[in-house]
Amino acid sequence: MLDQNLTDQLGHLLGSKGFFTDADDLAPWETDWRKLYHGRAAALAAPANVSEVQAVLALASAQGLPVVPQGGNSSMVGGATPDASGTALILSTRRMNAIRSLDPVANIVVAEAGVILAHLHDAARSVGRRFPLTLGARGSATIGGLVSTNAGGTQVLRFGTMRKLVLGIEAVLPDGGLYAGLAALKKDNRGYDLTQLLIAAEGTLGVVTAASLTLVPDILDRAVAWVGVDSPAAALGLLRALEAASGDAIESFELIPDSSLRLVLQHIPDTRAPLASAHPWHILIEYVRSSPAAAPSAEALEVLLAAHYDKGLYRDAALASSEAQALAFWKIRDSISEAERAHGPAMQHDISVPVDDMPRFIEDASEAVEAAFPGVWVNAYGHLGDGNVHFHVRAPEGVTDPNWRLETGKKASQMVYDLVTAAGGSISAEHGIGQMKRDELARLSSPARIAALRAIKNALDPRGVMNPGKLIP
Ligand code: LAC
Ligand code: ZN
Repeated sequence: MLDQNLTDQLGHLLGSKGFFTDADDLAPWETDWRKLYHGRAAALAAPANVSEVQAVLALASAQGLPVVPQGGNSSMVGGATPDASGTALILSTRRMNAIRSLDPVANIVVAEAGVILAHLHDAARSVGRRFPLTLGARGSATIGGLVSTNAGGTQVLRFGTMRKLVLGIEAVLPDGGLYAGLAALKKDNRGYDLTQLLIAAEGTLGVVTAASLTLVPDILDRAVAWVGVDSPAAALGLLRALEAASGDAIESFELIPDSSLRLVLQHIPDTRAPLASAHPWHILIEYVRSSPAAAPSAEALEVLLAAHYDKGLYRDAALASSEAQALAFWKIRDSISEAERAHGPAMQHDISVPVDDMPRFIEDASEAVEAAFPGVWVNAYGHLGDGNVHFHVRAPEGVTDPNWRLETGKKASQMVYDLVTAAGGSISAEHGIGQMKRDELARLSSPARIAALRAIKNALDPRGVMNPGKLIP
């Protein structure tokens, strides 16, 4: 509960479209989309513009009111869910959803925090351009959340993560001060780079309210192939060979174990295996043509794959023969998470190691974890070309008790994170730390890293109002 005085002030400031305290209005936003984290909020603020955000944060800092910024509520790590105390204000960016400008000549779009990624894709395409970051949750994930988590997804291979695509941001700092950093400056050496600091800060240093983002030319056409391989090492070998022969035409190279494919076929309607032959591992390749001078993608990818067949890097391949079939291949990839959830408990680990080390890591870590926890099985899938896989440890078949996660699951997670750390990798590649990994970050980081994180947090948010309990140990 907020005290009456604060309730009145926020209600007056935000109006009936921007301030909610009824349990029914709050409920959908108090739980994360995977239903792993259940919090309680005192109220929800949905400011209409940046000056309202400034006023809310100034009030929150002055009164010690915890603020939990929330975009599409599609965090993978409980990063946008309040704690159970019922004291926090959820700050939803949903009403700040304007595209402020779209310049197909300069190739810059300025989007407010609440713009949904799929809407940004549509807007860019309407002027012959493309915003090249995409991921399974594009129908709900918002620009503010994507910036605040430095999101990755399936086209990082060519275009990098969000950090690489952000040209500037506007944000409100915890005391209500405005950081007006939207100008797309190619050179700017005014000391510490606040834009970079706020990217991936997970709402712990303020609220990102808008971002200037890079656009790239729209593609002329794309080809999508499903390829069967013997091992992650063979898959990476194939990627290297194809890249050497095709420049930057390969945008996606997603590794999928046969166990993930089988879960999708079992749980997701209207899916079928792209290849008639069986393989322990699969790859989804997306090849694009951006220049009229280049050969059409389907032709180019077919020639490229044929040229590599004799080298024994893959066993079989199917090239999508239509856009509908391309979408069907992608549907399998994008449904892995959902199929896994339908199947039963699992521990998800979004990890990275140096790219060339990933095939060995997958093989060795899977073997070690499966040996240590009898009956569990590993599904490691995703962005092999980025050195990032979603290393999921599934409960033994037949286990449906969600408490499996709290005991055996937790121990398995610690083992995975120990192995990743020993391999010089990261326990969060593209999903962030949130509340899920905060303690593990503390356990596995150097004291210097943790001290620096805390010092920055304390300097900018001395009252500790911004997204408490997330990221900072
Ligand atoms: C994916 C999400 C889970 O790659 O990051 O499917
Ligand atoms: Zn991913």
